[in-house]
Amino acid sequence: MYRIKWNDKYSTGNVEIDKQHMQLFEIFNEYLAEKKKRSSLKYLILSIDLLGYCQEHFKTEEQLMLSANYPFFEEHKSEHANIYAAVENLVNKVYNGDSIDDVAADEFLFSWVEQHIVKKDCDVIEWINNGRI
Ligand SMILES: [Fe+2]
Ligand SMILES: [Fe+2]
Repeated sequence: MYRIKWNDKYSTGNVEIDKQHMQLFEIFNEYLAEKKKRSSLKYLILSIDLLGYCQEHFKTEEQLMLSANYPFFEEHKSEHANIYAAVENLVNKVYNGDSIDDVAADEFLFSWVEQHIVKKDCDVIEWINNGRI
């Protein structure tokens, strides 16, 4: 079964952000394990958890970027908005019992981790810690 395992490449170098990202991995993995049982209440709760997580986590990162005058704030914020919209769409589908394209959903989660966290989030912390990207 597909799982996301934490390793050093995901570490941004910021303890709070890394802790939140590890929490995201836990939600992802529970979500991936539960998705076989489409109708389970846990599946719905986990997708809602993912949405709540997005709100909190993106707020933390956006506040960090603002206080550091991060030059790519708007671009990063708009990626957060896109991820949020995609998770919201997923929650609605789970809630309504609509069919979900598993391949597309997994690809979305994978690109969030591999593209957004590994590249974009790490750039933010690099900027905050070293003043460059
Ligand atoms: Fe993040
Ligand atoms: Fe981010």
